[in-house]
Amino acid sequence: MKNNSEDLKTISNVVTDTLAEYLSISQKGDEKVLNQQSPELIAKDLRLEYWLKEGGLNAESAKDLVKNYLANTQHMHHPHYIGHQVAVPHVASGIADYIHGVINNPMSIYEMGPAAATTERFVVNWMLSKIGWFKGKQASDFSQIEDDGGGILTHGGSIANLTAMSAARAAVAPDSWTHGTPNNLVVLASDEAHYSIARALSIMGMGQKCIIPIKTDDLKVMQPEYLQNAYDKAKSQGKKVMAVIANACTTATGLYDPLEAIGKFCNDNKIWFHVDGAHGASALLSNKEKHLLKGIELADSVIWDAHKMLRTSSLCAAVLFKDFKTLGTTFQQKGSYLFHNKEDIGFDSLPYTLECTKAGLGTKLFWVLAAEGEKGLAKYVEDTYKATKEFHDIINKHPHFSCPFKPESNILCFEYKEFGRDNDFQLAIRNTLTQQGKFYITSTEINDVRYLRLTVMNTLTQKTHIEGLLDEIVKVAHRLKQS
Ligand SMILES: Cc1ncc(COP(=O)(O)O)c(C=O)c1O
Repeated sequence: MKNNSEDLKTISNVVTDTLAEYLSISQKGDEKVLNQQSPELIAKDLRLEYWLKEGGLNAESAKDLVKNYLANTQHMHHPHYIGHQVAVPHVASGIADYIHGVINNPMSIYEMGPAAATTERFVVNWMLSKIGWFKGKQASDFSQIEDDGGGILTHGGSIANLTAMSAARAAVAPDSWTHGTPNNLVVLASDEAHYSIARALSIMGMGQKCIIPIKTDDLKVMQPEYLQNAYDKAKSQGKKVMAVIANACTTATGLYDPLEAIGKFCNDNKIWFHVDGAHGASALLSNKEKHLLKGIELADSVIWDAHKMLRTSSLCAAVLFKDFKTLGTTFQQKGSYLFHNKEDIGFDSLPYTLECTKAGLGTKLFWVLAAEGEKGLAKYVEDTYKATKEFHDIINKHPHFSCPFKPESNILCFEYKEFGRDNDFQLAIRNTLTQQGKFYITSTEINDVRYLRLTVMNTLTQKTHIEGLLDEIVKVAHRLKQS
């Protein structure tokens, strides 16, 4: 390989043809969704050791390499992929990934990627506008208005949550940056908060015991009437409440915490309010579904993953702040926030991110927007949320299955109940399905009861696929019972 433009053309043509075939077969859903081999066999198939020693990849061998690689993947575009909350990526997003891979512009310094930096700022403004935190006339208005919100994109929701928690700490205990975190800081959250929150707090030296659990209902939705008591108790013990964290929606069930009531409590008591909208903030795009996020504008920070419900390839997450000045204090004690220095062209986001070198993440989301428009993305959210409610009704009507709740989003839990309740049995069903590779679903626990779990990410997943899934589960369950 000469590593020149000719190689780029010939090899990418071969790869594109192979990927196109893969996509088409995956979408038809005739083959397995997952075929898991051991790492030893995969290493052999891919000839990892050979390539390491010999090098010399060319267009011909690239075809074999990519074919063998694709044979060992989770087929996200398959209608039977109903597993984790990871986007079935839009083709447009994959193409943006390719462009970045070729040009490699680390855009947190404007001069290292002016187009990528501009596009990130544009999509961040667009996301802020959906919460009501953007004061410009249109997303391409880059002048900083006094009451504007602000935000940046990160490589994933976990980093976005860590950034938001650091911002909350900077607001409550600005000296932490220099002197370390005071040992009396606590946060109030339900025990359904995503584990990346506990990790963030531990990384920040607070230890995950700093989370004071707020009572939830039977379905793990936070009950805001318990906040006052928890707050008063924490204060009486000499603790300082750094933040309240709400889920929009929770990972396990896809149900939304009541943001408005939680937000009012936080605003009344001047407590930082963080909304983890990694999965569910995308409902803001839909006039039908945005009621689920009523009160989100009361937050101080919100995270929102485009690589979950905005059809963007991993990773592309946003951490958004009500007050743009927050960006300046998060990773420094006395930060100033100055995207626009009059003498310099453009804006450097480097001082405001945890990450130093950063990919052109906004470009991936922008390409999806460019393909679908915001209306197309709103429709995607509506279609997946609606389909999940229909799937709920099908499952609940089946004599051998029941669902613990009617879904609010595109996450659905259910159990196989023909032989009574047995956590290990549900898990055995899920594991057998995964080994067979015909369907890919997950499982979760709610109040110590294990359920099977679907996340409907693919608009190709239809009623017939769910009926097929139920038939398969019944077969698997009967076989397991006999063995
Ligand atoms: C509610 C919630 N928050 C945060 C995260 C972490 O996001 P990421 O996987 O992008 O790091 C997830 C991931 O599933 C999530 O469901």
